[in-house]
Amino acid sequence: MTPLSSDQAYDFILRNTAIASPSLLPELKLHLATEITPIWEASETALEQANVPPPFWAFAWAGGQALARHVLDSPRERWANRRILDFGAGSGLVGIAAMLAGARLVRAAEIDPVACAAIGLNARLNGVEIELFREDMIDRDPAVDIILVGDMCYEKPLAERLTAWLRIHAGRGIEVLMGDPGRTYKPTHGLALVARYDVPTSLELEDRESREGIVWKLLP
Ligand SMILES: C[S@@+](CC[C@H](N)C(=O)[O-])C[C@H]1O[C@@H](n2cnc3c(N)ncnc32)[C@H](O)[C@@H]1O
Repeated sequence: MTPLSSDQAYDFILRNTAIASPSLLPELKLHLATEITPIWEASETALEQANVPPPFWAFAWAGGQALARHVLDSPRERWANRRILDFGAGSGLVGIAAMLAGARLVRAAEIDPVACAAIGLNARLNGVEIELFREDMIDRDPAVDIILVGDMCYEKPLAERLTAWLRIHAGRGIEVLMGDPGRTYKPTHGLALVARYDVPTSLELEDRESREGIVWKLLP
């Protein structure tokens, strides 16, 4: 299996996406898929040999949109001079919102190499810099003041590992905010409601036309 080169990743993104703003985030521009099926099929054929995961980075997920909206709607002092981790960054929308809102630095943790390329392109498109952490950060020291997590509770083993790691950091005084639209493996306890948004979604992606995106603070 030959790993995908950075040039191939950039090429794939540019050929299979268009620049658009997520429905809840008109101030952001991202390379996004316009329809699901073509990019999913293109991923399977073009990227399969390189063992690349599905193109989650090509969509602005409802949980991430709600969290990014909350970041942009909060007073700038909340983020100014803070070091922020965007865990499971995908397109990078949450981290980009945090940089636009005045964060000192944003580190994006993302294990998909094509998503990492997309984060680079999307950051440039919005005139911000994002530091990439390309490995699994769970069980490592994130070295930040705030952890933002957009739509990561879609898979049981991942959600359980992630929540356990996040709770340790919440216990150490790091603020942990999760944006979630009611995914199956969202933590069932130890959450404080911060904000709610109605997020328009596509029928094709979510099987409904809108989802309630909730921003939760994870308690230790
Ligand atoms: C549903 S998408 C959410 C993307 C973005 N936060 C949003 O809300 O649009 C989940 C993302 O998490 C990434 N991911 C999965 N496991 C991860 C891990 N252990 N560390 C970092 N990223 C991970 C996937 O590659 C994918 O891009």
